[in-house]
Amino acid sequence: MPPPSSTTDLGASRAFASDVLGRMTLAEKIGQMTQAEKNSITPDEVADHGIGSVLSGGGANPEPNTPEAWREMVGAFLDGGRRSRLGIPLLYGVDAVHGHSNVGDATIFPHNVGLGATGDAVLVERVYRATGIETAATGSLWDFAPTVAVSVDPRWGRSYESFGDDPSLVSRLGAAAVRGLQDAGVAACAKHFVGDGGTVWGTAHRVEWTDWWNGWGSQWHIDQGDTVVDEATLRSVHLPPYEDAIGAGVLTVMASYSSWNGDKVHGHHRLLTELLKGELGFEGFVVSDWMGIDQLDADPYRCAVISVNAGIDMVMVPIAWQRFVDDLTRAVEVGDVAIERIDDAVVRILAVKHALGLFDHPAEPPVTAVGAHRDLAREAAAASAVLLDHRGDVLPIGSGRVLVAGAGADDIGRQCGGWTIEWQGGTGTITTGTTILDGLREGGAEVVHDPDGTGDERAPVGVVVVSERPYAEGLGDREDLRLPGEDRELIERIRARVDRLVLVVVAGRPLVLGDAADVCDAIVAAWLPGSEGAGIADVLVGRRPFTGRLPRPWPADAAQVADPGGSWEAAWPRGHGRTI
Ligand code: BGC
Ligand code: BGC
Repeated sequence: MPPPSSTTDLGASRAFASDVLGRMTLAEKIGQMTQAEKNSITPDEVADHGIGSVLSGGGANPEPNTPEAWREMVGAFLDGGRRSRLGIPLLYGVDAVHGHSNVGDATIFPHNVGLGATGDAVLVERVYRATGIETAATGSLWDFAPTVAVSVDPRWGRSYESFGDDPSLVSRLGAAAVRGLQDAGVAACAKHFVGDGGTVWGTAHRVEWTDWWNGWGSQWHIDQGDTVVDEATLRSVHLPPYEDAIGAGVLTVMASYSSWNGDKVHGHHRLLTELLKGELGFEGFVVSDWMGIDQLDADPYRCAVISVNAGIDMVMVPIAWQRFVDDLTRAVEVGDVAIERIDDAVVRILAVKHALGLFDHPAEPPVTAVGAHRDLAREAAAASAVLLDHRGDVLPIGSGRVLVAGAGADDIGRQCGGWTIEWQGGTGTITTGTTILDGLREGGAEVVHDPDGTGDERAPVGVVVVSERPYAEGLGDREDLRLPGEDRELIERIRARVDRLVLVVVAGRPLVLGDAADVCDAIVAAWLPGSEGAGIADVLVGRRPFTGRLPRPWPADAAQVADPGGSWEAAWPRGHGRTI
């Protein structure tokens, strides 16, 4: 299969798509515009309705969760597409947001915030190409990545999915990610258009979720909220990554759950149609987010009408897809949605499928590609580490005795964060990989592991790895980013038993360190390094140099956290990163 070039011109594919369109019934057109979740649809239903796409949401894994079982599961749906009347290929979508991250034993790369810290577009392109190769190896040729949010507020539960708070950094690395994925023959999806990273704390209203999600909905504070900025700011801060992604040939864009000055993006004709497709010239297709249209109106019929008329081309209706098909059919029949809008959406979808080579029945790469990029992941983890502070010469750690403590030192789940195996991630050995402790043990040091720091052995050097528990989306919205008391106490206990102390912070965002910073001889931001935590040990022991730079300022106190984008003096500014 010829991979789409990075300057994908959809012209030829559009001509092909228009030809197919001429043979399609209204039902088949609407089928192509429909995306269902794999647990809510069968391959036979895909065939009967000519469904355009099926997705695995976060954690929607086969049992057992192996690469082979993934390939079989995805393959059955692809087969459904082939069995439809016109044999239009199905596109299977996944959230491979840091590697093919739902899949057991896949390579898990650092989350985007860590890649932002590398500042290295060549590395990011390699990482996303490897992600594309592993994704394609399971039969899925559509990745809901990269997130190109410019994350203004670190309290946002998705800030780790963002490369940082600098529009030019996000644009540069986002475009590299698009090139990498699409070089591997996988459609990228720049998300979430537009302004998802600019929402204001306290503006998320997820009341309708409160019942369905055992009260989880009430935990949303900023994710999916309102981006309250004037148009000039929207254009200068949040839009540039889309201009560069389009320049890199991005084939799909996902609409944001968030609002712009009170108006939901999912229903925003000006943003989706006039700005994105008109002014920016985006020729691929726009997909809505998971039940995103449901937030437009209490009446599902109105949701279908408003979103499609606004410019959504493929609608992620994971569960109630049949109702959506019925509603949109009625809307066309009664004239609430023009057939020209339907035809435009379908041509865009088919053109993307054609550009991917799907109509040529591409040969599937070997499934053994899954998990085969661990050296690259380790290299990326090392490159993402930022040396915030270093007094004296405790680093690199030499060959003496090292006391290692903290929940993040030996926990693959914590170092991977959310969107790993499960939507919310998990703790412990959730997949294959190496921990920071494993990497320290590879060196010449005599490592003493005391996870909760309650022992009494002494050592010349101590390493405390504090960590956030994994989270995703609004469940990670967190007002207080101060280091928890138990971590501060652990640091004090270890401090008393060592001559010099290294603090490693495994977190999706800067945590306010307060007094803890004063008692440490070195402080390292490790972000969420992924399955190859040993890469963090590589920089600690000097097997690799520190090259990472902060992709966003590191706040000094809680007041700064509460004033995102304010003009305060950070503990360490964006761009900071020491070398030894
Ligand atoms: C997220 C998207 C994701 C989609 C599919 C949504 O909840 O906002 O980023 O791609 O789910 O899993
Ligand atoms: C899915 C995620 C999705 C979320 C809704 C979960 O059940 O697995 O992919 O993002 O629901 O936001």
